[in-house]
Amino acid sequence: MLVLGIETSCDDTGLALVDDKGLVSSVMASQVELHALFGGVVPELASREHARFIGPLFDKLLAESGKTLADIDRIAVTRGPGLLGSLLVGVAFAKSLSLAADIPLIGINHLHAHLLVAGLENPLTFPALGILVSGGHTHLIQMNSPVDMKVWGKTLDDAAGEACDKFGKILGLPYPGGMYLDKLGQLGSVDKSLFPRPYTKNENYDFSFSGMKTAASLWLEQHQNARLSLPPLGQKYADDFFEKADEEAKNASASYLYAMADTLVIKAKRVLKEFSPTCLVAAGGVAANSFVRKQLSDFAQEIHLPLYIPKHKFCSDNGIMVAYTGLLLAKMGLRHDENLTALARGKPIPNDYLEML
Ligand code: KG4
Ligand code: ZN
Repeated sequence: MLVLGIETSCDDTGLALVDDKGLVSSVMASQVELHALFGGVVPELASREHARFIGPLFDKLLAESGKTLADIDRIAVTRGPGLLGSLLVGVAFAKSLSLAADIPLIGINHLHAHLLVAGLENPLTFPALGILVSGGHTHLIQMNSPVDMKVWGKTLDDAAGEACDKFGKILGLPYPGGMYLDKLGQLGSVDKSLFPRPYTKNENYDFSFSGMKTAASLWLEQHQNARLSLPPLGQKYADDFFEKADEEAKNASASYLYAMADTLVIKAKRVLKEFSPTCLVAAGGVAANSFVRKQLSDFAQEIHLPLYIPKHKFCSDNGIMVAYTGLLLAKMGLRHDENLTALARGKPIPNDYLEML
């Protein structure tokens, strides 16, 4: 079965084809350089760019894979959560193809897709504990099956990715700062007591990363020499920029990322009192972070469970995760029809699948 996946929930236009054997082909257009000019995603610009890219990207996907529209058995599209204008571009495109070529449609929950793609190369076992860490979300999810997921905890304010981007921004790194903070932190040494483990002195499973941001600005006020100035995205910087950066900036980045990853582990450990997973799954852009990867892998070893983290290129938003989730749902005999709608962030995403006829 060949499934087309379409992802347009934020600022990446991603399309992919996946079949029973795995990834067939994928294409992607990133808008990061455009939004970097504004220091964050501008929703109206994001939807316009999706509308500009999506048609040509689909043609490119078919050309690169040697497939035609007639070869596609299902069309899977992200229906939410995300920016409404951006989601609508993908959903409208998917519905048009579905109606024109009479191909069944499946609406995909973006958060589920982030986690499930960890099974693309080695199928996941259930139940699993999903640790979803991205620019917009920080969720602890009990994954009972591809369609049965229970959220135990989530962020009450900033997501882990936002906390990284904000420290990156005040340090003088370009948007989005997470990746650069990681590069810098890998060159530093960790001071475990420099930054707090926010919102852990309670009994619940939620996160609140806004306190880390405050701690980081206070630290920077007292360490003005640590400020850097990396040129904006797209402009060249010296190869040794990170090596030559202020030692305190390196150490603070390492300590900040360590504290953030530690906070994830503290809350994940707590959720294990509620159910016994067969494995851990970490996903989302921040799962590409070297501190998060290392600390979660130490945690998995400590509790003797396998840890699945998607490859770097599957961690941030992409069409592959949507196509793969579509394949899993299609195999369960599930679909939607032309009444499928896009659901903006904050709106619950129902399990309103229809059975295949
Ligand atoms: O999953 P994603 O691509 O988009 C959302 O759905 O939000 O995640 C983007 C986030 C950004 O905040 C970005 O800075 C962060 O992931 N990120 C990282 C790293 N790579 C991407 N944060 C820390 N370390 C990284 N290596
Ligand atoms: Zn995402």
